[in-house]
Amino acid sequence: MEKPSHNYFSPTRIRTQDLSAAVVLVPCTLTTTPPRQSSKVVKGSTEYAKMPPIFQMDPFEECFFEPGGMYCTVDFTLVTDSPTPLMDMIREYSEPSSKRFNHSKLTYGICVTKSCTNYNSTDLRLRLESCLNDTMWDEYGLKTNVPEKFYCEDGEKTMDVTPADIVVAFIVMFLFLLNFIGSSYDFCCNPDKDRGVKFLLCFSIRRNWIKLVTPTADTPEPRLKRLKSFNGLKVISICMVIFAHSIFIGAYFVNNTAFVEGEYNKLPYQIIFNGTIIVQKFFIVSGFLLAYNLQLYAEKHALDWKVIVKAIVLRWLRLTPAYAIVLGFVLTWYRQLGTGPIWQKVAGTEVTYCRETWWYHLLYLNNYLDGSECLSHTWYLAADTQLYILGVLVWVVCRSARSRLVVLSLLFVAGMVIPAVITYIHDLDGAVIVSPEATRGFYVHDQTYIQVYSRGHTNIAGYVIGMALGYLIHYAQAADFNPQKYKKYHVCVWLTLPLGFIVVGAGKVFYADERASLAERVAAAALLKPIFGFLVAICLGSSVLKFENIYRGILEWRVWTPLSRVTYSTYLLHYVFVKYFIGNQVTLLHISFMFVSFIFMGTIFIGFLAAFPFYLLVESPLAQLIKLCLPVGREKTKEPEERKQETTTTYSSREHL
Ligand SMILES: *[C@@H]1O[C@H](CO)[C@@H](O)[C@H](O)[C@H]1NC(C)=O
Ligand SMILES: *[C@@H]1O[C@H](CO)[C@@H](O)[C@H](O)[C@H]1NC(C)=O
Repeated sequence: MEKPSHNYFSPTRIRTQDLSAAVVLVPCTLTTTPPRQSSKVVKGSTEYAKMPPIFQMDPFEECFFEPGGMYCTVDFTLVTDSPTPLMDMIREYSEPSSKRFNHSKLTYGICVTKSCTNYNSTDLRLRLESCLNDTMWDEYGLKTNVPEKFYCEDGEKTMDVTPADIVVAFIVMFLFLLNFIGSSYDFCCNPDKDRGVKFLLCFSIRRNWIKLVTPTADTPEPRLKRLKSFNGLKVISICMVIFAHSIFIGAYFVNNTAFVEGEYNKLPYQIIFNGTIIVQKFFIVSGFLLAYNLQLYAEKHALDWKVIVKAIVLRWLRLTPAYAIVLGFVLTWYRQLGTGPIWQKVAGTEVTYCRETWWYHLLYLNNYLDGSECLSHTWYLAADTQLYILGVLVWVVCRSARSRLVVLSLLFVAGMVIPAVITYIHDLDGAVIVSPEATRGFYVHDQTYIQVYSRGHTNIAGYVIGMALGYLIHYAQAADFNPQKYKKYHVCVWLTLPLGFIVVGAGKVFYADERASLAERVAAAALLKPIFGFLVAICLGSSVLKFENIYRGILEWRVWTPLSRVTYSTYLLHYVFVKYFIGNQVTLLHISFMFVSFIFMGTIFIGFLAAFPFYLLVESPLAQLIKLCLPVGREKTKEPEERKQETTTTYSSREHL
């Protein structure tokens, strides 16, 4: 066989890779005392040195210095014609899939015109495959299998502007223009709130800013002010969500995969890896607000079927405009903004899926759409909307306290049974496992994520706990509940935080070398969410009733208030930034604790930094505009009493996140 002139693994590069793996996994080998760690770790490192690296990237820009340069990013698998010890070892090493990469699936960025010069096949796939076959054979005695789908760049940047791009650009420009006019109008004419041109005042940045920073603005209902602690909870939770998403960066094109795998054995990281349960907090807050606001509404109004329609329509109108703008941007201009070996693979895929499925998103059904990579984080909005509709139906159909008790109990049981049954039938994991491979694939094909984590009907338990809590709190406030009598139970509230950590940490069993037994997984699927839900509910309930002051003090801190108002914008935007960061990577990253910390802080900072203008220019003006246009909005000005109640109904849709 002809040897390739340009061997595309330079020997120095291989050596560095070995060294980093060895240093990370066996720090003790440098000292004279024998390593105290289990022999498995040491064995792992010698194994590690023999395996081809999972990620490799030829220099990207240099590839296009010569005219006609061609750069391809390929996901390929290692194969052998006959069994070899190395291949067996790779298979065995990748076996605990919860914490190991699959070392037979590699992703390489290859400058075809430099690294594979000796191959002239016109079929690019065959050219890549024979090139990889030869390099892998020389170095490792392995062959490769290149799939049909891979991504290539020829370095020529073409700006193709489609009609959709122009429409979106026009809409955004128009919004800016309205903001400019509205703000100038407000600034120059200083009109009275009730007599000025209301339509324009919706777009006054000054007014929106005041709304944003005023403590608990526009809540005439004093009881709603008691919900201040939700602000802290929402901000803290959204930061955790951002953190969870910034983890994606650690599984994408890193040169120290050994470090990433090693982290799974450390307890603190377990808290992070099992953090997917955190999202239950949002369901609880959402269920609480729904029940509580409907109770307030019912004090003065009949709960008839019209409430159902109104609640659903208001919610849709509240969530959709800002969401549609983000979606519109991803559909159109986003693809133009990046370059790099994996831009097509990461962002291009996202855009393709969004073009096919955007209307599922606008109908909030996208969490029942499997395999889509379009803004995957918005599964939560869909699930929450579905549960919201369920909640409103239950509340309006069952009006007596007894029937509500019965139905909520039944739903709660269903909320435990359904995930358990689905876990049993499909042989899933007890919770989403943040494995390197699942993260590398953005969970698109992770069955636990698809079947249990992201559906509406599998998240009923948390929502029902929230609704029950809202109902109870409303009842307790009406009955003038005096918490001072129960002071000695403070410790129960304080315990919720450590217990919460224990529940989260309990997920460590899923990261053992052996997969957890089916019984354990089913039990976890049934119980983790409700237990965590109860802990959150205790914490929240005690804050609302001013039962306990330490957690309440933290959650009601004034700084949270403006931040909590932009959480929806932050939520919508941060994921786009994370994907943008990943997609623009041109070299392999070296992951370390500090690096991940910086990424985390940076994503939070950028997320909020972008959320403020987005809220001021898009979210808040459009929300007000809709209120102004709706028939319910117009009624408001006629009857002050009605208006007050309206504010409270819309509150639930406003404060969902
Ligand atoms: C790793 O990937 C290969 C090829 O797709 C697959 O056959 C194998 O089952 C995977 N190994 C694990 C442990 O998932
Ligand atoms: C690469 O090696 C595999 C395994 O031997 C073989 O099936 C495949 O045809 C080879 N590809 C090319 C292009 O030669």
